[in-house]
Amino acid sequence: MKVFRYVSDLGDLKSALSEAFELKQDHYKFQTLGRRKTLLLIFFNNSLRTRLSTQKAAMNLGMNVIVLDVNQGAWKLETERGVVMDGDKSEHLLEAVPVMAQYCDLIGVRTFARFESREADYTEEILNQFIKYSGRPVFSMESATVHPLQAFADLITIEQYRRAARPKVVLTWAPHPRALPQAVPNSFAEWMRAADVELVITHPEGYELDPQFVGDAKVEYDQMKAFEGADFVYAKNWSCPGVSCPENYGQVLSRDMSWTVDKKHMAVTNDAFFMHCLPVRRNMIVTDDVIEAPTSLVIPEAANREISATVVLKRMLETL
Ligand code: CP
Repeated sequence: MKVFRYVSDLGDLKSALSEAFELKQDHYKFQTLGRRKTLLLIFFNNSLRTRLSTQKAAMNLGMNVIVLDVNQGAWKLETERGVVMDGDKSEHLLEAVPVMAQYCDLIGVRTFARFESREADYTEEILNQFIKYSGRPVFSMESATVHPLQAFADLITIEQYRRAARPKVVLTWAPHPRALPQAVPNSFAEWMRAADVELVITHPEGYELDPQFVGDAKVEYDQMKAFEGADFVYAKNWSCPGVSCPENYGQVLSRDMSWTVDKKHMAVTNDAFFMHCLPVRRNMIVTDDVIEAPTSLVIPEAANREISATVVLKRMLETL
């Protein structure tokens, strides 16, 4: 595997899941595969889970790891070609990427949506420069529009806890004070469609996700109705994807606190498990009692980030 952005990059999903469960039994099963190989993790944005779980995955495989926080200690990077670089950015990504590639075998990149233009974000301008100019296998550690390591970990978690052959999984929008990217809900919808689940997406009008990720999944604007009989509830905020109104892209259209996932919502479910990728704003996205309930899976989800990253790194190492 040379690039990891979409569920299709993994090939057969069932075999990827069975590899994940093998690795859950023994995290160190392939501990010599990455010997004398170096992973470079590049962060344009903050991270707790991705940073730690991906480093741990690399160590499970015997790799060396270098972590670069672009905004702390590196030269500020220009990303647009053709810009007269007379401002505060000292280095261009077009030199920086091939230079970084000299010191590693695999590259992981975290770069959020910038919300300057829907087109720039949805063409994954920064991630694609790494893919094009590094000459190394590259994986997204959450980029402008996708978060595949998270979605893979979410799917592993659903497989681990499913009680029904084909569980009902509800992806629900919930309020947040700031504009957040659509990367997590985009990938969650994409991966759930590829899995054997019944996916229902619920959000206020105006928050329609990009059709390339949602496909033919059911969208239900009545949140309580969507929750009825759910086996898993996956909460996440996202800003306006701008599908029908590109001028609204990245805006906060609603702060409606009636969408916060609370006991009243969970009462109409099939004793559903609660999921969120974290970090989560308590009592905005979800109430304390729901996230602290025995049915909350937020910690097992975070644990499975190590597993999803180990599978992805293993498959990239195998192609070197
Ligand atoms: N869920 C997730 O990606 O967390 P971080 O932003 O802390 O890495």
